[in-house]
Amino acid sequence: MITIAPSVLAADPLAMKSAVVALGDDVRLLHLDVMDGRFVPNVTYGPGLGKALCGLDLAPVEAHLMVEDPERHIPYWAGTGVFRLIVHAEATWDLLRTIQRIHGAGFQAGVAINPATPFAPLLEVLHAADLLLFMTVSPGFGGQELVPSVLEKLRRFDAATGGRHPPVEVDGGVGPAEVDAVVGAGARVLVAGSAIFGSADPAAALREMTRRAEAAVRTSATAGE
Ligand code: DX5
Ligand code: ZN
Repeated sequence: MITIAPSVLAADPLAMKSAVVALGDDVRLLHLDVMDGRFVPNVTYGPGLGKALCGLDLAPVEAHLMVEDPERHIPYWAGTGVFRLIVHAEATWDLLRTIQRIHGAGFQAGVAINPATPFAPLLEVLHAADLLLFMTVSPGFGGQELVPSVLEKLRRFDAATGGRHPPVEVDGGVGPAEVDAVVGAGARVLVAGSAIFGSADPAAALREMTRRAEAAVRTSATAGE
C-alpha cells in the first residue's frame, strides 16, 4: 500500500478549506506540520487546525510535531480527531516514554529524524513506533530540494532491519520526479506539499503522484526488493 499525504503547509493559508476540499475524494491522508519556532525556526499551526481539518471529514489527519519536548503537547491533541502524532527523536530526552504516552493518549505514534540524524534511535523503538518518518529536507519550511543522502540512509536502515520495520514516510522535497527514488529506497508514505498545492490542479497532481507511486511499488516488488 502506498499513500501520498498532502502537506497543508503549502496550501494558501487564506483558503485552506477550499484548497483541501479541492483535493477531491482521492486524498487518503493529510499531513499537518506543527512548528513551535524553537525546534524549527518557523511557527505554524496547533490542535485547532487539526480539529478543523478533521471536521471536514475528508481524510485521516496526522500531526507532524516539529516542537521541543513534544510530550508536553500530547494532551492538547485529545478530541481533535487527529489520529497520529509524529515526534522528533531529536526533541525528547526519552523517546520510548514519549511513544508510550502518545499511545496512552489514544494516538498512533510516529518517530521522525532529520536528514543528518543517524537512524540508530529508530532501531530501539521498532517494536513501539507505528510509523518512521525520514525527513528528506531540514524541517521548518516547504519548497526545499530533497537531500539525496537521506535515500542512502534509508537503504542502510532497510538493510540493517532486514526490511522488518514499521512503514516509512518521507517528508520534504518530494514531487513526481522523486517518487521512483523514494519508493525504491523503501518509503511507503510520501508527504508532498509544493508538488500538490503548488500545482495548477492539486487533485490531478495528487492522482498523478499516486499513480506513479503505485507503479514504483509494483516495479520494486517485481525486482524482488
Ligand atoms: C517541512 C515539512 C514538510 C513540508 C513538505 O518542515 O515537514 O512537510 O511541508 O513540503 P514540500 O513538499 O513543499 O517540501
Ligand atoms: Zn512534515
